[in-house]
Amino acid sequence: MTTGKTGGTTGDTTNGATGDATGGATGNLRTLTITRPDDWHLHLRDGDLMAAVLPWTTRCFARAVVMPNLRPPVTTAAAAAAYYERILDALHPDVDFTPLMTLYLTDTMKPAEIERAKAQGLVVAAKLYPAGATTNADAGVTDLARARPLLEALAACGMPLLVHGEVTDPAVDVFDREAVFIERHLRPLVESMPDLKVVLEHVTTRQAVAFVEQGPPTLAATITAHHLLLNRGAMFQGGLNPHFYCLPVLKREEHRLALVAAATGGSPKFFLGTDSAPHPRAAKEAACGCAGIFSAPVAIEAYAAVFEQAGALDRLEGFCGRHGPLFYGLPFNRGTLTLERRACSVPSTVPDGAAGDLVPLAAGSSLRWSVVAPPAGLIRGD
Ligand code: DOR
Ligand code: ZN
Repeated sequence: MTTGKTGGTTGDTTNGATGDATGGATGNLRTLTITRPDDWHLHLRDGDLMAAVLPWTTRCFARAVVMPNLRPPVTTAAAAAAYYERILDALHPDVDFTPLMTLYLTDTMKPAEIERAKAQGLVVAAKLYPAGATTNADAGVTDLARARPLLEALAACGMPLLVHGEVTDPAVDVFDREAVFIERHLRPLVESMPDLKVVLEHVTTRQAVAFVEQGPPTLAATITAHHLLLNRGAMFQGGLNPHFYCLPVLKREEHRLALVAAATGGSPKFFLGTDSAPHPRAAKEAACGCAGIFSAPVAIEAYAAVFEQAGALDRLEGFCGRHGPLFYGLPFNRGTLTLERRACSVPSTVPDGAAGDLVPLAAGSSLRWSVVAPPAGLIRGD
């Protein structure tokens, strides 16, 4: 990481976020150059919507783990390869971006599908959605015990299991679903399969942070920008705010603080996963609004704001560009991304590729770090 010295400060911090920037040891930096980051959890969607959102990710990220919860879900190596090709087709030819594909585990999938995907080389992980837990999760796994042969196939070929860690039991309060999932399902799984690499995706609670910290080196977690910036109060501030509704749902402030400590603390077990999940505005602002926060347009700027507030800008690079590749066993990116301490204005809406629009995280507000364009390494051959 290279840094430059400051003159002055700029801008507001975040959209309803808590606290002010405090500076700290790294608070006087003016520019920050880091290894080009990766997004280890991204919803790219498909078709026109994919084409509309893809540039928001490729402007910063070199690679992204692309979630398989399409309709129908990506359940075969062949479907993953076809989706990979559609993503490449939607990319501007000069853009250097590698989609890392995932398989969606189901009750009926056979272990041979995982072996096929491994041999094919495009799929890096498999996603466990408890059936019904979130958007397009109805075809997910109904009983972890039945998925055991799939998990053994993953362990045998060294492919990580990516977990949406929430129980779907309607008797469990929605704010407790992650903590209950850990005790009911994940702890027994991790203890019984020491060779299986597991990523607990988009952690939201202090219980999840403690579980990952105390677990074996085969256990890691992604953390979103929105769970770092916002607590559950944001959903209800001044009225009902559907654009802050996601799953797992935002939690109390004590949990947000635990996430900030985990992300900024330097542990290689925690890395960047935006869970950027675009839904057309009409689907969010509806009587029964969809879960998902579209954070790609402001992701890296938002993480920088969080790390600055924590006085930990020197650890941003590890979280964004080092810990993920180390866990997945992939090389570090060669390019760099430079941020400067200059306010960036977040648009209120961006086009969704059809007739509608999308509302990004921090819509209409200002963040204090901006990406210096064009990012070094963005263009092939740099
Ligand atoms: O908020 C969410 N949105 N959480 C998920 O797990 C899925 C995602 C989506 O695909 O919209
Ligand atoms: Zn997700």
